[in-house]
Amino acid sequence: MAGRVLAIDQGTTSTRCIVFDAGARVLATAQREFRQHYPHHGWVEHDPADIWCDTLATARAVLAEAGPVAAIGITNQRETVVVWDRNTGEPIHRAIVWQDRRTATVCQTLRDAGHEPLVSARTGLLLDPYFSATKIGWILDAVPGARRRAERGDLAFGTIDAFLLWHLTGGRVHATDATNASRTLLFDIHRQCWDAELCALFGVPEPLLPEVRDSSGQFGETSLFDGGAIPIAGIAGDQQAALFGQTCFEPGAAKATYGTGCFMLMNTGRAAVTSNNRLLTTTAYRLDGEASYAVEGSIFVAGAGVKWLRDGLGLITHASQTDDMATRVADNGGVYMVPAFVGLGAPHWRPEARGLISGLTLGTTAAHVARAALEAVAYQTRDLAEAMAADGAGRPEALRIDGGMSANSWLCQFLADILETPVERPAMPETTALGAAFLAGMATGVWDGIAGVAAVDRRVEQFTPDIAGAERAALIAGWRGALARTLI
Ligand code: G3P
Repeated sequence: MAGRVLAIDQGTTSTRCIVFDAGARVLATAQREFRQHYPHHGWVEHDPADIWCDTLATARAVLAEAGPVAAIGITNQRETVVVWDRNTGEPIHRAIVWQDRRTATVCQTLRDAGHEPLVSARTGLLLDPYFSATKIGWILDAVPGARRRAERGDLAFGTIDAFLLWHLTGGRVHATDATNASRTLLFDIHRQCWDAELCALFGVPEPLLPEVRDSSGQFGETSLFDGGAIPIAGIAGDQQAALFGQTCFEPGAAKATYGTGCFMLMNTGRAAVTSNNRLLTTTAYRLDGEASYAVEGSIFVAGAGVKWLRDGLGLITHASQTDDMATRVADNGGVYMVPAFVGLGAPHWRPEARGLISGLTLGTTAAHVARAALEAVAYQTRDLAEAMAADGAGRPEALRIDGGMSANSWLCQFLADILETPVERPAMPETTALGAAFLAGMATGVWDGIAGVAAVDRRVEQFTPDIAGAERAALIAGWRGALARTLI
């Protein structure tokens, strides 16, 4: 067991478990996709029972294959809200997912009432339905008697990490880490504690809230697996875990993860950089009580756009086909896709925006549309990089990328071309899970602090910019035109 760590990576569309050894090599992996619920237009829910069952099943599968581990790390889709009964462990409602837009009006009302500056100053976030607080309020109002039970301390709120930790420890530990707390709109990222005034503003009773701990440290033990108690020793939201797994420890180091959405984070060290360009400021990780910060740009649709090509349009049968399709056409044929399927995130924050495909002619083929979906990811990443630079966070020397879409080499090259920055793809792409493993392994002697983690050998493939300036400028101008039409 020495040197082996189990990472639980509970994402938006799948739950996966990976066991790593001390050289950050994958020893075993198991994954399960689970059902998405769309009860109304713009609503997205998960059944917490699915998430818990899949976590147990995938963890058991990898432990059976890899053998005992020294520790467990948890990383998770962020912001998604679960409220459960402390006595029975039963959720009182399905989880409301980060993509869910049902509280857009509540956010608008709070913005109109002038609350955004205070909220932003304390949390680093904006008043958008993306974050947890308004979703918690919605559940407490929708479920009869819930608000009273919450005030009495009978209910618990958690992002997915806290929900899993609670179940793994048999209901003994109700805690989260600082990165997950930072996504709720209730946590003061500067003082690193829950904020009573924000709890009152969003109508969230404080007895609901989990204890907030460092990202690396003892959270509790689980006895649910063969071979005795295993410490749960690391927790981080998935984007912060990817930043950690990519070893972006120096200020200026940046990563972008292309999963369901795309999340670009740049480490800003001990300084919480305030954005003037509608980016987010967030806790990158908290170690030994010291918070490091990141500036973040969140794009809601990346891989979800390719999934839509497959499931919504039936244009492809497998995501990997887009690589070929994009290469098959000489250019985008003037076709641009703005994938605002669930509104637009950073730097626009327009929950009401909807997607569009522009520039269609009789010469447009499925390959052009597929290419437009991939190109959109690169243009949006550039918009984030520009906003970060304008905020004074600097430009990364190279952007480290990961997530499912990073397997698409055409996209990696196009990204480098559009960003005018080298793009680095690690040979071992599971950086989110690796980040959680690092955090748990640092607390249990597998790695000796950040230096020990940074010393782990990582092979990367680099893509360097390779198009003429005029071509890049024309492509970006085409994107801006399409975007402007979405934002009308
Ligand atoms: O903020 C939402 C993010 O954490 C979801 O990540 O990888 O499940 O798309 P992912």
